[in-house]
Amino acid sequence: MRREPPQTSTEDGSLTPALRRVFRLLVRSELRQYRPIMAMAIALTLVAKGFSVISPVFFGDALNALVVGADDLVIKSVILMLLAWAMARFLAIGLPQIRDAFFAEVSQAASRLTAVEAFAHTNLLSLQFHLTRRAGSLNRIIERGANSIDYLLRFLAFNIVPTLIELALAALVLGVRYGVGFSVIAVATVALYVGFTLWVTEWRVRQRRAMNEADTAVRGRAVDSLTNFETVKAFATETREAERFGDALSRFNRHYVKVVQSLSVLNAGQEFIMGTGVFCIALLAMFWVRAGELQVGDMTAAVLILLNIYRPLGILGFAWREIKQGAVDLEKLDQLMDLAPQVADAPDAKPLQLSGGEVRFENISFVHEGREDGLQNVSFCVPAGSKIGVVGPSGAGKSTILKLLFRFYDPASGHIFIDGQDIKTVPQASLRGALGLVPQDVALFNDSLRFNITYARPDASEEQIAKAISDAHLTQFIDSLPHGLDTKVGERGLKLSGGEKQRVGIARAILKNPAILVLDEATSSLDSQTESEVQLALNNAAKGRTSLAIAHRLSTIQNADLILVIAAGRLVEQGNHKQLIANKGLYAKMWQHQAERDVNVP
Ligand SMILES: Nc1ncnc2c1ncn2[C@@H]1O[C@H](COP(=O)(O)OP(=O)(O)OP(=O)(O)O)[C@@H](O)[C@H]1O
Ligand SMILES: [Mg+2]
Repeated sequence: MRREPPQTSTEDGSLTPALRRVFRLLVRSELRQYRPIMAMAIALTLVAKGFSVISPVFFGDALNALVVGADDLVIKSVILMLLAWAMARFLAIGLPQIRDAFFAEVSQAASRLTAVEAFAHTNLLSLQFHLTRRAGSLNRIIERGANSIDYLLRFLAFNIVPTLIELALAALVLGVRYGVGFSVIAVATVALYVGFTLWVTEWRVRQRRAMNEADTAVRGRAVDSLTNFETVKAFATETREAERFGDALSRFNRHYVKVVQSLSVLNAGQEFIMGTGVFCIALLAMFWVRAGELQVGDMTAAVLILLNIYRPLGILGFAWREIKQGAVDLEKLDQLMDLAPQVADAPDAKPLQLSGGEVRFENISFVHEGREDGLQNVSFCVPAGSKIGVVGPSGAGKSTILKLLFRFYDPASGHIFIDGQDIKTVPQASLRGALGLVPQDVALFNDSLRFNITYARPDASEEQIAKAISDAHLTQFIDSLPHGLDTKVGERGLKLSGGEKQRVGIARAILKNPAILVLDEATSSLDSQTESEVQLALNNAAKGRTSLAIAHRLSTIQNADLILVIAAGRLVEQGNHKQLIANKGLYAKMWQHQAERDVNVP
């Protein structure tokens, strides 16, 4: 497994790994129930090919038997042969239709399995990975990868391989019935056709890849712009966004035109090769009819047999392109699946054993990717059940400390312990189960208030929900809504005010009832009246558990058991409010500053 996030695009769409992947997928136990359909599909395909090759022979024989003024007996046998021809033709085309009708379910199940696994895997990848990827392009990789399973199955199993079998059968029938010369021409024509198709397709695959990349860029840009619509509106940059979108689209258009042009080259070349082959067979047959070795009906049959192979071969060009494209898409999906989360559970991870919720940071250093400075040697201990405040200038690293506690990132050095257990040695799920977070920027799902509030605890009772809502001072707001808890909150919760969103975040965390409550400026968007009320609720919620609260407004953490002062990635002071004021350090200065400002506010 490769560690995320290096994302190279070295995929060459080689077939073997793609085939191996599809094969491994089909034999998986989850798809066991579809095995009879898979077997039936193969059988139907083979039988259909047999009918396809044999049908022209019936037609040729009928023509051979037919003479001017033929008697009833001859006519009867001609009718029978024509019937056999019509039936064989019908089955050659009808059986694959029956197969497709049944097989759709199998390929859908296989695609679904792939997509769901990729989706689950993507969710497992760390925060860092998601911060550097566009959600839209990830979505496309999953979608295309899953669809490619369908293409690969359809075209490879039901087009290319059966066509090769048909070619072998046709060569056999031509050789045995009409002369080896025909077999040679048929095989040579098909070989040339296939060779030419593959050669041109290799070239086209590169073009298509460039086109797909441009396509991904267009979608990524559109999604980015549309999800940031508020920013776009606020800065009146609609025109610029449209231009950026237009630029990306015109790059896509250029690639698309090239792809269409090369398709014309391919199709014309294929047509020329096939036409030449059919002409050669007809020419050879003509000479053999003149020599009396064949009849006109045989000549017709030989031409028809080659034309019959031509039909599936006509799709071969397209099928091969789809297969190659599918292989490329699948490879991209594979690269995604191969990424190992930067933060991973230790193989011998044991569930966190809580006993009060003591948090200890020991010499933690951490620098964000692409940054020069970060946290340096941060050590502190939050005794079980105590209330801690974290303060410091913006950008000092306060939120980063919380993210490290959640193990969104692993520190470069040092250890973090909860109740004496290094958080690296416990499963992430059990670690995060013990923590409840009200983030600095509460993001909500585009769903109902109820869905968002009960997100951590979908099975909460109505009383528990009502209690959490009331603790978060949301009751009045929710009661005022016509749809109450079923009100939709909009994309990322943008239909709520900042303060309402924050209180939903608080209700969500309170309802979770975690051992350790973590608040990142949980009340920063509230007016001072609501803030002090919510603060009361938070103080209540913090009772009996460890709590860590980042605050800009120092009054909110004034009564904390311990206050950590962070500046430029270092823990510069710690103590309770009184001690820190007596210290006359950074905290005392910040306190002084805020007190003056509060006095000046009318
Ligand atoms: N994912 C990231 N990648 C790179 N740098 C980051 C990332 N997240 C944060 N940083 C940087 O790390 C530094 C500390 O960020 P952090 O969010 O911890 O600050 P903070 O103390 O919480 O500030 P604020 O009070 O403004 O919320 C900042 O300089 C920030 O730009
Ligand atoms: Mg912060």
